Amino acid sequence: MESFELHAPDSAALADAARHWRAAYVHIPFCARRCPYCDFAVVTPDEQVGPHRRYVDALVSEIGMEPHWQPLDALFIGGGTPSQLEPDQLALVIAALAERFGFAAHHEVTMEANPEDWDAETADGFLAAGVNRVSFGVQSFDATVLASLGRLHNAEQAVDAVHVAKAAGFDSVNIDLIYGAVGETVASWRATVERGLATEPDHVSMYSLTVEPGTALSRAVGAGAPAPDEDDLADKYELGSEMMDRAGLVRYEVSNFARPGATVRYNMTAWAQGEYLAFGLGAHGHREQVRRRNVRRLSAYLDMVESGNRPQAGADRIGGWSREVERVFLGIRRAAGVEAGSAGAQLLAGADGQRLVGAGILSDDWGRLRVLRPLLTDEVSRAVLSLSP
Ligand SMILES: C[S@@+](CC[C@H](N)C(=O)[O-])C[C@H]1O[C@@H](n2cnc3c(N)ncnc32)[C@H](O)[C@@H]1O
Ligand code: SF4
Repeated sequence: MESFELHAPDSAALADAARHWRAAYVHIPFCARRCPYCDFAVVTPDEQVGPHRRYVDALVSEIGMEPHWQPLDALFIGGGTPSQLEPDQLALVIAALAERFGFAAHHEVTMEANPEDWDAETADGFLAAGVNRVSFGVQSFDATVLASLGRLHNAEQAVDAVHVAKAAGFDSVNIDLIYGAVGETVASWRATVERGLATEPDHVSMYSLTVEPGTALSRAVGAGAPAPDEDDLADKYELGSEMMDRAGLVRYEVSNFARPGATVRYNMTAWAQGEYLAFGLGAHGHREQVRRRNVRRLSAYLDMVESGNRPQAGADRIGGWSREVERVFLGIRRAAGVEAGSAGAQLLAGADGQRLVGAGILSDDWGRLRVLRPLLTDEVSRAVLSLSP
């Protein structure tokens, strides 16, 4: 793959090139315990998960079932908590992908990690396994907020984790932050962003706390606990964005900020409607106009793979008009926007599009659509999804 080091994170050329990259996602579901807001495919020790090695062996088998493809530009090992695995175990998975597909020049291998799992020895081990980018689930540097999010680490562990990763030689370090938790003031959020930026991350993902159905948080809100407040979330988003900008981190997607050269290729591929393979519990992939998803129950996943079957729960062909609408829906999240194409042209010609452009929310620059007010991206997305052929 061409090196894109010189492109600004929000460049249209970079955003559009990502459509042709080859990516893969691997899911590691293990977590020490489940955070109250999380609805990802996760298994905790009390759920009789069995040895991690059994899951790793199943991943290697599943990778072997995938038809041959081209060398990978980007691999994202997400979770769950990939840092719950031993570096040697993750090395087996990366080696299986290297053998089956190979890796392109300048490839990116990201792993998610929780700060409490991280020290110099594990950092060296994961580097040796082939990981070159690490994404820490920091969420906050405020002890009250960390407690309300049910996290197991403290602020010092998060700072140390980033420093250790940088010293170990990872090409790129990301921190995930969450704003809007109960007990978080604007001053606390400002302090969190300040402390996060002081660690000099290459990339920051900044998410508003979402109340996902079926989670402990959702049950608490249903029972009368306060839900995240929309105005408070908007204020914190604006404040966080300004602080990122001042620190030289460019917003290139609604919630993602990077220094030049540090955009995350796996996500860029997905937002460009590119193709990516998926392995592991609950993983979603996209190839040859088919979106497929794996089973979400660990016992079902292991049984299916160990009996020689792909652990697929379902697949949908996305072609024709629905593919065109999806292209705009995904691309509009990027600061670089998306080619209008036939769906964009229809949006601009209709009442919704005219209103969005008139209100300064959406712009049309020579056939390229851009959302000018990222906080209102969902409003544009709804208009895109309501288009019909
Ligand atoms: C699924 S976690 C996996 C990584 C790691 N286990 C962790 O907790 O950081 C990836 C990221 O998703 C974000 N996340 C998960 N659930 C969320 C929610 N309900 N609202 C906002 N962000 C969420 C968090 O920022 C988290 O770092
Ligand atoms: S947020 Fe991360 S650590 Fe918490 S349950 Fe979800 S995947 Fe696990």
